[in-house]
Amino acid sequence: MIKEFIRNKKFGYLVDNQWIMTSKTKDTLSPIDDTLVGKLPLMNTQQIDECIESSFKAFVSWRDTPINYRVNILRNAEKIIREESETLANLIVEEVGKAYYESLDEVIRTADIINFYAAEAQRVLGEVLYSESFPGFGREKIAITQRVPLGVVVSIPPFNYPLNETMPKIIGAILAGNTTILKAPNQGGVVCMVIGEIFRRSGLDKGVLNIVSGDNEIAGDHLLKSEKINALNFTGGTKTALHIQKVLSQREVVIPTILLGLGGKDASIILSDANIDIAADKVATGAFTFSGQRCTAIKRVLIDNTIADVFIEKLIKKIKDKFILGNPRDRKNTLGPVINDSTVNYLHILKADAIKKGAKVILSGEDEGRYIYPIVLDNVSEDMRIAWEEPFSPILPIIRVESIERAIDIANRSEYGLQSSIFTNDIDKAFLIASKLEVGNVQINGKDSRGPDNFPFNGVKQSGIGNIQGAKYLIESLTRIKTTVLNFNN
Ligand code: G3H
Repeated sequence: MIKEFIRNKKFGYLVDNQWIMTSKTKDTLSPIDDTLVGKLPLMNTQQIDECIESSFKAFVSWRDTPINYRVNILRNAEKIIREESETLANLIVEEVGKAYYESLDEVIRTADIINFYAAEAQRVLGEVLYSESFPGFGREKIAITQRVPLGVVVSIPPFNYPLNETMPKIIGAILAGNTTILKAPNQGGVVCMVIGEIFRRSGLDKGVLNIVSGDNEIAGDHLLKSEKINALNFTGGTKTALHIQKVLSQREVVIPTILLGLGGKDASIILSDANIDIAADKVATGAFTFSGQRCTAIKRVLIDNTIADVFIEKLIKKIKDKFILGNPRDRKNTLGPVINDSTVNYLHILKADAIKKGAKVILSGEDEGRYIYPIVLDNVSEDMRIAWEEPFSPILPIIRVESIERAIDIANRSEYGLQSSIFTNDIDKAFLIASKLEVGNVQINGKDSRGPDNFPFNGVKQSGIGNIQGAKYLIESLTRIKTTVLNFNN
């Protein structure tokens, strides 16, 4: 079914379960070798308005559908994804250049997410509260709280997990009784169109999921300015989020819910008593999987100077053992190209700045265009841009520190606050450091990571707002509490 759907590479926008072709389109090219993956629609404002109207209308009936009904549709979607896992994985390889087995993991994880969310949504319940609990009251009131939907949710996913980051946004919204408009990203947009087709075939009611695409000013800004939009669930770069906030400030009415999953500069703090083999293994995968194009990638190592040399030796060996750079269509390769040329340029700017200021390149390869072998920099200092900026590519700075206090200080001075990891055998120390780190999630003796997908996932500072992942947490984020109070007057 998916093969058929993507065969002619031309896609329309989705409204009321119909694909509508546009006269203008935009090419999505593969980062592998610039071959055409698909032509995505360039929509005009009228077409965007049509999608908003459809979602707005559909909400009125969708919010009243029983949860069992919504769950059954999701089960159909899960089944299709499992059946079509190979085709989906190959599409992810083509569209974002991810290694084949990681792409396949993304597909399976997505099917598991649907399964888990569908079960969890049935447990997102309200509460009963009694007035007698509060001073001054007797038994005269009982409050019943319910979790009710928000309305029309705009879902904007990033390129790096086109299936896996997009799916929770959609199913979180629709399980909670919202309708959603998915804004397809420029890269990863073809996968988003396939998601639309999967839900169409799963029997989802018309208008519950509409999909738009096009120039950011139209498909993004115009959409967000609409008074009929009640919530935004965005994952992407901090710069884009700042632009979105400006757009939202032009609205005549407030937007009740904003969820943002943004960038990070995750620090991995390695103490002198750490198991160095484990630390080297986790840092290698944490930093370089999918060429570091993960918000949760380890983006700095802060290591006790006394063990730095031994750690570095082991880290380099692990990286060499784990990663083979090359065309991801060849399944033996575990690292493909980065997503675009501007990512390459930015990496080179950060690298050159660090070298000029005294950093030592202790690992790099024969790079060719977007194909970049992992780069490790030692002796990185605080005056270098790489100590603070997020490259979103395969380059890892190592900062040697003399004390735990200094590691915490450098970790916390980042504008970002997504995750951190601590490697130590002293669990008391680990908890103490964890309590001082200004991030959404701390990993003790493990790599930074979003999953498993029942765990909450959120960032602080410039890394985001609200719980944007984690079944129960995201579904709750996409509902509001409505309270009905029963008064006993005699
Ligand atoms: O890019 C941000 C993703 O949410 C990271 O997910 O930790 O599973 O790679 P991950």
